[in-house]
Amino acid sequence: MTVPDPTPAARSGTVTGPRKRRPAERAGDDPMPTGQQPVIQVRNLTKSYGKLQVLRGVEFDVPRGSIFALLGSNGAGKTTIVNILATLLRPDSGTAGVDGFDVVRQPADVRAAISLTGQFAAVDEILTGRENLVLVARLRHVGKPGAVADDLLERFALTEAAGRKVATYSGGMRRRLDIAMSLIGNPPVIFLDEPTTGLDPQARVEVWNAVKELSAAGTTVLLTTQYLDEAEQLADRIAILHRGRIIVNGTLPELQRLLPAAKVEYVEKQPSLEDVFLALVGDTATGTDTASGPDGATGTDTASGPDPAAAKHQEERS
Ligand SMILES: Nc1ncnc2c1ncn2[C@@H]1O[C@H](COP(=O)(O)OP(=O)(O)OP(=O)(O)O)[C@@H](O)[C@H]1O
Ligand SMILES: [Mg+2]
Repeated sequence: MTVPDPTPAARSGTVTGPRKRRPAERAGDDPMPTGQQPVIQVRNLTKSYGKLQVLRGVEFDVPRGSIFALLGSNGAGKTTIVNILATLLRPDSGTAGVDGFDVVRQPADVRAAISLTGQFAAVDEILTGRENLVLVARLRHVGKPGAVADDLLERFALTEAAGRKVATYSGGMRRRLDIAMSLIGNPPVIFLDEPTTGLDPQARVEVWNAVKELSAAGTTVLLTTQYLDEAEQLADRIAILHRGRIIVNGTLPELQRLLPAAKVEYVEKQPSLEDVFLALVGDTATGTDTASGPDGATGTDTASGPDPAAAKHQEERS
């Protein structure tokens, strides 16, 4: 599937100053603490491509400063939702608001409030990593574009590759650069469409940490993912999109409560090397023959057999 790449315009966040998360914004099971407007509000959204009905009445809210994960199989419509929220695609019906602006009636205001890291990296391969960052910083009229670029290069472990053309970057490096570009200008809302697909485990953790930092500073993050552990790690709330609708939406504990607890099964525990070692030499062993030691407290007296704990362990196993 081809989706429109996020253009610099779609990335055009504005500096809005530091926003601190208020504790209530992360509060547990209540999706929308009283008195707070959701920063993203989606109501009865529908979208078809020809005869294919992709969205059939999608509804959800995202509280300010939270991380919201949208899960769904391939083709469920996750990117379609993100593109509608990012004003790259018009819905057929329903409404969607971002940071108080309607995505259809006030697209320019929405664009000023968001940043999108699309499913496919939107970096200029002819430019170097640093040039890409400086370009976006200039487009966003951010002060000291060079310093902003250098800071992000460091944060995303790209300093060494900063002067190389992006065409020579690995997939993970491109992805990190792409995410770094979307952070320029501190937009209050960030959309990340499958931010860690194709990344190695270490790079995934780096991206997760960056997302957590953003959220801790008050940025609202909506991400889509195929990785369930990613949603578990990151999301305050998780929604599952299936057959055109959100079929569940809740915190991880809420979702877990939908299934009965797993049956408890007893399995024989194999002793670890540490268990074996301690059973044989005692857990205060010094390697000396303690039978002749002065206080008898420096190791197991092999003359009197293994220590009681070790004996018990062996009993349990037999
Ligand atoms: N421009 C388009 N024209 C026709 N069909 C489209 C178009 N864009 C998306 N689709 C179809 O809409 C459905 C939803 O696509 P979408 O990209 O939103 O899914 P997704 O949940 O992001 O999937 P993935 O996990 O594979 O990225 C798919 O069946 C896709 O083929
Ligand atoms: Mg997608």
